[in-house]
Amino acid sequence: MSIEQLAETAQAMVAPGKGIIAIDESTGTIAKRFASVGIENTEENRRAYRELLLTTPKLNEHISGAILFDETIRQSTKDGVPFAKYMADNGMIPGIKVDKGAHPLAGCPGELVTEGLDGLRERLQEYYKLGARFAKWRAVINIGESIPSGTCIESNAHALARYAALCQECGLVPMVEPEVIMDGDHDIETCYEVTEATLRSLFDALYQQNVLLEGTILKASMVISGKGCDEQADAEEVAESTVMCLKSTVPAILPGVVFLSGGQSDEQSTEHLNAMNQLGQLPWPLSFSYGRAMQQAALKLWAKDMKANHAAAQKTVYERAKENGLAALGKWNG
Ligand code: 13P
Repeated sequence: MSIEQLAETAQAMVAPGKGIIAIDESTGTIAKRFASVGIENTEENRRAYRELLLTTPKLNEHISGAILFDETIRQSTKDGVPFAKYMADNGMIPGIKVDKGAHPLAGCPGELVTEGLDGLRERLQEYYKLGARFAKWRAVINIGESIPSGTCIESNAHALARYAALCQECGLVPMVEPEVIMDGDHDIETCYEVTEATLRSLFDALYQQNVLLEGTILKASMVISGKGCDEQADAEEVAESTVMCLKSTVPAILPGVVFLSGGQSDEQSTEHLNAMNQLGQLPWPLSFSYGRAMQQAALKLWAKDMKANHAAAQKTVYERAKENGLAALGKWNG
């Protein structure tokens, strides 16, 4: 795989006014989302729900690609078209979550390290054959009393870089996701410091593992107040802090940065992205790779009546894609 092909895929992922829909919830995570609206967590319900999302009419106007879960990339529409083929036929790039989840980091109470490097080369080769052209690996950085430790930040950065190098060898664009978690009562300044240290360590590790940044996408968390913090920073402060943090840590050659929503409301996630893109010329496109902030309205509708609300649920997916696509251009009007 040439770097030109990787770079082309990466650029297409962050094409102007387009972003990613994350529908890569593991079976355990989708169980929680389904339980919150009273849907039974069966394989057929998971398939039908992912079909509803992916076959939303005109989704490709604002969505460049979707991140799938291992089960999902092996599933098909009710008419028997594999989801990855359906996406490619409709101008959307199939992506795949390849990490095996965050597990307790030995010697570091309260901290996690993401696992999944063993056998990864073979899994990536298979995913490529199944049609995936980018992959995602999520690291989790918790903020709390005396954490994160340097050990946690560096262990996760090392794993992300090893994963990214393997992806590029196998022809997949690595989406590297170090998520600084919003839970906690920390203020926005603390989030800034932790995000800065995390990104610095990540780009250092990517350099050490010979990862080509031209063929890499960063999936970042925003610099934002902890959910339990008494003083919540407003959209302007979130936008300015996030952009300043990225400018001081992320090389300009990176094709793009996409954000996770991380528990923000639909409106907040769109407002924050829009505010960042209104700050003027930036070194990279800033777009979205939202899971909950793309799906939660649709899931609620679908749960009420899967048949009768099918079209209405798809309409909300399209609307969320459109709003976030406009925010990726700084053209969202609230
Ligand atoms: P949220 O937008 O719900 O945080 O999910 C995005 C994602 O893919 C996290 O890995």
